[in-house]
Amino acid sequence: MGWPSEVVNLVLPLFLLLELGTHCVAVDRSSFPPGFEFGFSTSAYQVEGAAHEDGRGLSIWDTFSCIPGNILGGGNGDVAADVYHRYKEDVQVLKSLGTDVYRFSISWARIFPGGSARHGKVNPKGVQYYNNLINELLQNGIEPFVTIFHWDVPQVLENEYGGFRSKRIIDDYSEFAEFCFKEFGDRVRKWVTVNEPSIFATHGYGNGKNAPGRCTTNGGNCAAGDSSREPYIVAHNLLLAHMRAVKIYRSKYQQKQKGVIGISLYADWYLPYSSSKLDVDATQRVLDNKLGLYLDPLVFGDYPYSVKQLIRDRLPVFSEEESKEIRGSFDFIGLNYYMSSYVMDNSTSSDPTRKSDIASNPGQDAPENPDIPDTFATTTSQKDGIALGPSEGGVEYWISYPRGIKLLLDNVKTKYGTPPVYITEIGYVTLDNGQPLQDILEDTERIQYIKNCLCYTLQAMREGADVRGLLLWSYIDNFEWNNGYSFRLGLHYVNYTNNDLRRIPKASAIWFQQAMNPREAPTAAILLVP
Ligand code: BGC
Repeated sequence: MGWPSEVVNLVLPLFLLLELGTHCVAVDRSSFPPGFEFGFSTSAYQVEGAAHEDGRGLSIWDTFSCIPGNILGGGNGDVAADVYHRYKEDVQVLKSLGTDVYRFSISWARIFPGGSARHGKVNPKGVQYYNNLINELLQNGIEPFVTIFHWDVPQVLENEYGGFRSKRIIDDYSEFAEFCFKEFGDRVRKWVTVNEPSIFATHGYGNGKNAPGRCTTNGGNCAAGDSSREPYIVAHNLLLAHMRAVKIYRSKYQQKQKGVIGISLYADWYLPYSSSKLDVDATQRVLDNKLGLYLDPLVFGDYPYSVKQLIRDRLPVFSEEESKEIRGSFDFIGLNYYMSSYVMDNSTSSDPTRKSDIASNPGQDAPENPDIPDTFATTTSQKDGIALGPSEGGVEYWISYPRGIKLLLDNVKTKYGTPPVYITEIGYVTLDNGQPLQDILEDTERIQYIKNCLCYTLQAMREGADVRGLLLWSYIDNFEWNNGYSFRLGLHYVNYTNNDLRRIPKASAIWFQQAMNPREAPTAAILLVP
């Protein structure tokens, strides 16, 4: 399978010529090197449901979703897509799509309903569920790719010591992680310690949009919090928890189990609004704050200089020992890419043209507040009235910019010494506002977006990025956190009406299935200028 390198060398430079405004028309599995892995990602709270069954304990998301006003449309994950009961059917869906790897997370409170062994026993039914799922995947030729923590802290630990605000979480998290290695590691060879520490920290403790819903009370909707400090404390504890889990895996399990371990980072891309030094520097500050805050410690052992300068005594410090230990604590880096924005220096954002660009569409992070805390920078998704890309599926701030994945991969390669990468999430959103089902099923924009991302990933690989696989979010629609069920990102539509929960393939599922099972000769990725 795959193209001989001479062909790749002939065809791929096309990308270099047509970098702007390109349109990927033909790409499939055979465009990629042999062994490149494709798959899908989900997380426990977003798909499993069965929230109050078989001894599962509560997590901060169960609590947060119940508070009126927190979730668009008022939903919660009690039933979600009901994967807990439908995993066999879903494994067949994954198989028919041509999936190599399936990334799912393990619900901490399903394994330890009390948060840790200190608070009671392991829940055998929870363990059984994940054993069943793993076995079912393997029997169908799909490799499990497990996320240990995808935002669902057991509520007991939040009550007891404030969850990730306290260093005490590190012991409880690593006990849970070790339990997973011990119990599932004979069959699981790919581990993600933490999903998107930055979103967990900023949305949970900065703007309060996600569980546990903390932020500075002054002007915000939160009951308590400190947006200027807590996100950094939480980020720091997440990194230390990651480091401890990797240490345990490497010292006790890796040699025998022969797996790899990494972390998934939220990694949207940022471009300078202009080529002025002010905007270029502001863009670097934002990248340092969003990505470097996590990736610099992992690769270099410390936070980026600009972050330390700007956050000063609000930023926790790594001891010498921790710095040594965190450096290199990964076998791969997972990158989750969804969108991009322009960045301008804060001091320039009152200029009338710039101001109107910000007002028209303030950028990805906080549509209602385009300023990114602690960066002296402002985001916008348009420049001189022209958008960076089209909005996705009716969500105004969610700008489609597939080229961002290439720019991100280039940056990670150049700045961080070409680490092995899995793109652990890429996805395209559609807002469900009651449009006819047929319109949602005909998701041609999603197909084009995925194709473009594949082409840009290939281009980055051609230029030296070490990308091992690409996972889409996701094979089904699911509970999209504070956006509830109104944001649909699946290749299959899930019919939530009356808990019917049928999975109905969208056009993208049919396209993906064909792209993963190409029947003819290898396909060169072909680009056209629209
Ligand atoms: C998260 C997922 C989420 C996806 C789409 C990512 O930031 O890891 O949990 O569903 O974005 O919104």
